[in-house]
Amino acid sequence: MDAVFKILVVDLDDASRSGFKTILQKIPGIKLTFETKELNKVYTVVQKDQPHIILLNLQPNVEEALKFSEKISNNFPDIKIFATARNARSDLIIRAMRAGAREFIMQPINKEELISAVKSEIRIKRYTQKARPAHGIVYSFMGVKGGVGSTTTAANMAAMLARKAKKDIILVDLNLQLGNAALYFDIKSKYSILDVIKNMEDLDLALLKESLPKHESGVRLLSPPLRIEEAEMIKAGHIEDILALLRNIFDYIVVDTHNRFDDMTLKVLDESDQILLLSCLDVPTIFNTQKCLDLFTKLGYNQDKVLLVLNRYFLNTDIDANAMEELIHYPVFQRLPLYDHKNCMDAVNRGIPFTLLSPNCKYSSRIEQLIERLKVDLSEDKNNGKTQNKRFLQKILG
Ligand SMILES: Nc1ncnc2c1ncn2[C@@H]1O[C@H](COP(=O)(O)OP(=O)(O)O)[C@@H](O)[C@H]1O
Ligand SMILES: [Mg+2]
Repeated sequence: MDAVFKILVVDLDDASRSGFKTILQKIPGIKLTFETKELNKVYTVVQKDQPHIILLNLQPNVEEALKFSEKISNNFPDIKIFATARNARSDLIIRAMRAGAREFIMQPINKEELISAVKSEIRIKRYTQKARPAHGIVYSFMGVKGGVGSTTTAANMAAMLARKAKKDIILVDLNLQLGNAALYFDIKSKYSILDVIKNMEDLDLALLKESLPKHESGVRLLSPPLRIEEAEMIKAGHIEDILALLRNIFDYIVVDTHNRFDDMTLKVLDESDQILLLSCLDVPTIFNTQKCLDLFTKLGYNQDKVLLVLNRYFLNTDIDANAMEELIHYPVFQRLPLYDHKNCMDAVNRGIPFTLLSPNCKYSSRIEQLIERLKVDLSEDKNNGKTQNKRFLQKILG
């Protein structure tokens, strides 16, 4: 998997810029960009790209560069500024440090020193990420048969979660052979679950997170392998590892499973905090619902873990939710209405989750209600890992 540790070199001097390029491009896992624009324009680039390191040549306009450094360190404390200058005297180094620089790279450049400073930042970033305790909650969606709306509901729930809360949300498509959740968001992914598995040993969690495609709603996506035949390379144990890993970097992990009780699905269901079992109000589907619930009982899952969701619900049928509850002796957790077919097709074909295309329609408000009933914590996470990270860093770095 491509690493995306981003370094932005801000340097007007052609010779020193190319010197940095020659050295830095040899460090694996780095995305290197260069800027020679005016510093106020560079600020906009920084805002957008949020590099991990800015290598800033203080010369020729030292005062302006120091102000720039101060502004960046005030507004983006996580970005590490490496100041650099030719034949710098100690007073400039001190001023640079006061303006927020974390390192001072003296020119002519000492190659080893630069590489070691950058690698140290990459290591810190790894530790920082690992310092965050596993906190993510896994919601798995499963249909009692194909076509009941598992993917639709999972995609819309993820989109609505992102709309309502500033949280890290990922939709994991575990229809490993024919999964198409990405199409609901019209996003393409270069990486699949298989890439994550292949790189599991030395995976940098922060880099993984940034490598996964992000929809404009904020939802990230982990897709199945590109080719159908690759699906069988993925085993239940892999999925267990992936979910454990995602719990470290995401607040909510929405999983769309397939509707077969194989090893992998059982593992996912076991690992899930809650299972949303999708069903509909017709006799064959009710029959399957009963069978699934019987198995869940045998697996020891209780009614807090398995939540029954009736999709495409409308009132004028012979069987309503109450009748179904009596039939199967299980409470219905949520009903989701049948939505307008044309609008639905429009949303699906355009790759826009329905809840984003029509946030005020009845369907969307029911998805919102589902989130409320799940008691999802939508509050701003004040202790979002940063304080813990700081404490952890202090501990390991002394
Ligand atoms: N509440 C709903 N109202 C109308 N159509 C729906 C609803 N939920 C899902 N659908 C449609 O039903 C079809 C199957 O849904 P999908 O989510 O792919 O099912 P599954 O993932 O369970 O196989 C899709 O065409 C989808 O747009
Ligand atoms: Mg599906």
